[in-house]
Amino acid sequence: MAAVLTRLLAGDLPELVKDPLGIFTRLARESDGLAPLRIGLRRAFLVSDPVLIRRVLLENFDLYDKDTPAFRAVRLALGQGLLTSSGAFWKRQRRIAQPAFHGENLRCFGPVFTRLAAACADKWEAARSAGRPVDAGTDMMKVTLTAVAEALFGDDLSGQAEEINRVFPVILEELAHRTASPLPAPHWVPMARNRKLKEALGSLRSIVDSLIKRRRTQLDNFATNTSRQRDLLTTLMLAKDGETGESMSNEQLHDEVMTLLIAGHETTANALAWAWVMLDLHPNEQERLHRELHEVTGGRPVAAEDLPRLPRLRMVFLETLRLYPPVWMFDRRAIQADRLAKTNIRPGDLVIISAYAVHRIPSLWADPEAFRPERFEPGKEEQKNKFAYLPFGAGPRICMGMSFAMMESQIILGTLLGRFRARLAEPGPVPPSCQVTLRPSRPVMLQLERTARP
Ligand code: HEM
Repeated sequence: MAAVLTRLLAGDLPELVKDPLGIFTRLARESDGLAPLRIGLRRAFLVSDPVLIRRVLLENFDLYDKDTPAFRAVRLALGQGLLTSSGAFWKRQRRIAQPAFHGENLRCFGPVFTRLAAACADKWEAARSAGRPVDAGTDMMKVTLTAVAEALFGDDLSGQAEEINRVFPVILEELAHRTASPLPAPHWVPMARNRKLKEALGSLRSIVDSLIKRRRTQLDNFATNTSRQRDLLTTLMLAKDGETGESMSNEQLHDEVMTLLIAGHETTANALAWAWVMLDLHPNEQERLHRELHEVTGGRPVAAEDLPRLPRLRMVFLETLRLYPPVWMFDRRAIQADRLAKTNIRPGDLVIISAYAVHRIPSLWADPEAFRPERFEPGKEEQKNKFAYLPFGAGPRICMGMSFAMMESQIILGTLLGRFRARLAEPGPVPPSCQVTLRPSRPVMLQLERTARP
């Protein structure tokens, strides 16, 4: 009886939760681009034809919003931030925040990434010389969290980094549980899980709020950080909407800061963890990167200015994102009727897009399971359809941190590969695990050797 009831209330969700990657990939390959599903009491469609994806994410963008059960669960932590809000409010926030991620503002972060990557390399060198393996998954999380936190707050963070590192895993684990659960308990129910989440969110909130208040006071007193690099928080605080002249309130700043901390670190960390797995499986590719790095940097830490001369590094990272896109699915809710292929989409229907599944369709990607960085050689056919390659989404809501993440990831990976040859300490398959992001299902422990200098 309970099973029947769950099935009635949850639709296809219990089955999907068991093997989402397998089911989405099969549906994407076997359907004609649109496969019906039922999530809870809702009609849902997995959309995998790039023409239809383009329609949802770009052409008919205004017919869809993000008021879906998955984004609602994430909104618990992020409030009305850029990732979770919709409509006119989102448009205004994006207009204000976007410039902070481009041009001169973005270039400022290069030295921060290089410094943090070099510090991680020194830590790895200590482990290597003691004959200990390193936990690449955990270290990538630490580096990317520090990178986004320093980009946001500059050097104000000192003293708080440890607490941030403590509460993040608690928040991410609970969000993963809530997005995967067919019928999650409301967050106000006094259960142990909810209490843990509340405590972690409360602690993060007070850190973020005090950093915002302190910066506001500094700016009000004209003590702007002219001598040091301007951080993202200052840029967001000073930014004004070009159309209305408005700037962000403390509450909006709080939600955006939480969004950037969460959206900006776990995704990048998991992409990097997958890159280490791929390089273990493809040692020739790793050798090729060592050669490229030695020619360009001679083993010193990679700087942003080196990146144009490291094309293979970029190709390897893009191919890793194809096979293991950290944001393996995202969805939208129809707010008005639409027609996709021959199907009428009704207001309230969910549209699901799985980058993982689209990236494995043989008609779009030849021999899709094979790791082939050549696919991303400049000018290659396979990468031309923007709506068939979706690690960062597409359309007006494409990842705002894409250039930030690309620069950061290549600097971290290149710096570490410039010094070390890495092999999995425990060889064997590393299946993916679907949390909020796609993670390796076991720790990525690496045994390191020093690379031979040319
Ligand atoms: C490899 C790393 C990353 C991946 C794979 C990734 C992926 C994505 C994807 C797929 C979306 C679109 C979701 C949707 O359409 O529903 C997105 C949105 C977003 N990402 Fe990223 N992201 C990464 C890194 C970052 C970083 C480093 C930041 C900021 C520091 C960031 C900030 C954002 C924000 C603010 C949005 C919401 C944009 C909007 O809706 O206007 N991301 N990301």
